[in-house]
Amino acid sequence: MGNRNDELTDKILNLKKSRGAVILAHNYQLGEVQDIADYVGDSLELSQNATKTDAEVIVFCGVHFMAGTASILCPDKIVLLPDMHAGCPMADMITAEGLRQRKRELPGATVVCYINSSAEVKAESDVCCTSANAVKVIESLDAEEILFVPDQYLGHYISTKTDKKMIFWPGFCPTHLRIQPQYITDLKQEYPQAKVVVHPECRPEVIALADEVLSTGGICRYARQEDVTQMIVGTEVGIIHRLRKENPGKKFIPASEQAVCPRMKLITLESVLWSLQEMTPQVKVPEEIRLKARTAVDKMLEIGRG
Ligand code: 13P
Ligand code: SF4
Repeated sequence: MGNRNDELTDKILNLKKSRGAVILAHNYQLGEVQDIADYVGDSLELSQNATKTDAEVIVFCGVHFMAGTASILCPDKIVLLPDMHAGCPMADMITAEGLRQRKRELPGATVVCYINSSAEVKAESDVCCTSANAVKVIESLDAEEILFVPDQYLGHYISTKTDKKMIFWPGFCPTHLRIQPQYITDLKQEYPQAKVVVHPECRPEVIALADEVLSTGGICRYARQEDVTQMIVGTEVGIIHRLRKENPGKKFIPASEQAVCPRMKLITLESVLWSLQEMTPQVKVPEEIRLKARTAVDKMLEIGRG
């Protein structure tokens, strides 16, 4: 397997050079995919990176909305998503038509969309946010009432950090909901020294047990602190690869081995190589949608990290 991966890696790196491509990978990607990437990060970092790269081709190793965001930000670049089936189920829990309907019911509400949403939903929203800046984005708004879509759990977490009136879309992340509070309680008994760090997509009962609630990029930064030597990690298990690689000697314990995002795992070395060979599948947001969605994404990028 090691040799096969080495062979694929060599081919990908050669082809990447001749195509003038950059490879961006999310923190939940398979370890071997993270290892061939030029940059590994959270949703906000990857969007920021897409705007900065000079490469003509972006190979996005993540899910569809992430490649869509790169297309919104970089209309002149070719954005490849090595497997078109890699869509985020939470992002699919809301459609632009459904959101328009809800907006008609709440005419005064400011719409904030989590970046885990389609370009069409972003185009219907006032401002976008990621888990890294959600509270800061909400706090920046001069709004009476905020409709937050599509993640009810991230929405609920933000509402505990602000006085603003928030209404939630009933979406959720099936992967994060696999993490049960009992798993954390049991692991805390086994590892009493460990810090509990969870993603804000987790259910409130899990968040209540955490020392820190952070985006995946925030989790990686927190792990580097000298006083953190053991960590119970309440998010998708792919992040453990990066945490262990960057922090040799520290202990990282997944809150649940079941917290796997199957769509993230569709991207493999084989699919990356195939995608670079064939220059497909490409994600391209239609211009009319892109321009509207860009306003919401730009507002978020101006605000930056929380
Ligand atoms: P981050 O932006 O924290 O990387 O989260 C993305 C995501 O899909 C979480 O499930
Ligand atoms: Fe979507 Fe959850 Fe997978 Fe993140 S982990 S991409 S929110 S399904």
